[in-house]
Amino acid sequence: MSIKPSDFGQAGSTSRSAPRIVVLTGAGISAESGVRTFRDNDGLWENHRLEDVATPEAFLRDPALVQRFYNARRAQLNDVGCNKGHQALAEFEAAWPGEFLLVTQNVDDLHERANSQNLLHMHGELRKVRCSRTHTIYPHSGDILEDSLCECCNEPNLRPHIVWFGEMPLFMDEIYRALDTCDLFISIGTSGHVYPAAGFVEVANNAGAHTIEINLEPSQVRDNFAEQLYGPAGEVLPGYLQQLLSDWQQN
Ligand code: OAD
Repeated sequence: MSIKPSDFGQAGSTSRSAPRIVVLTGAGISAESGVRTFRDNDGLWENHRLEDVATPEAFLRDPALVQRFYNARRAQLNDVGCNKGHQALAEFEAAWPGEFLLVTQNVDDLHERANSQNLLHMHGELRKVRCSRTHTIYPHSGDILEDSLCECCNEPNLRPHIVWFGEMPLFMDEIYRALDTCDLFISIGTSGHVYPAAGFVEVANNAGAHTIEINLEPSQVRDNFAEQLYGPAGEVLPGYLQQLLSDWQQN
């Protein structure tokens, strides 16, 4: 039996205002769209070790390999679409009367395509590239080639706009501010292996929020959540969010 919005922490809010919600998504929400998760294939990501393609050291060692890898991930976005899980979140956000922030670890653009609005990509975005020298960020849908030039210095300084291991995730101040005052924290489709995202539940707990994990299977940090719901996100989320909304409306 899930907990109703009227039972949430309501940290600092009046009893009549809608609970403030922070949602964290990981690779599991895009799995039903056909995007591979990170840790489902003997520790390999699309047949590569993470250290060979997702670290600054890998990019220094073999930039062509890293660019080819992310070019392929970027190209794959043309073959996939958002699924019922992405859509349920966007529809819920449009209907929810309170504050709502969606934080994703995913670098695909499937939340945007479902029309999510208040969205932060803490690990970067495949469809953006960055100048290594000036850090200017550009929209980019095609490949980055060895001679691709950035618009700022007109030199081949482009790298994927991806947070690699050892680099600082994006928007952390904004995310922690929202977690510190949220009433409900929902974590969806993430294994809890990678920090700081895996620690968000503890921040929300400390803020007095209700916390729920929605995943295919128990994550590494499942015990930190007050509530757990297991199943494919595309099947579980529409019903869960609909119930949340109607519980609030009837409150
Ligand atoms: P993982 O691959 O570690 O975990 C995906 C989680 O989704 C697993 O717990 C699966 O059980 C679950 N899952 C799979 N299919 C699902 C479905 N249909 N519905 C619900 N859950 C499902 O991916 P992340 O936790 O997102 O970082 O990985 C976190 C970070 O590690 C990534 O953002 C990436 C990676 O290295 C960077 O690239 C910086």
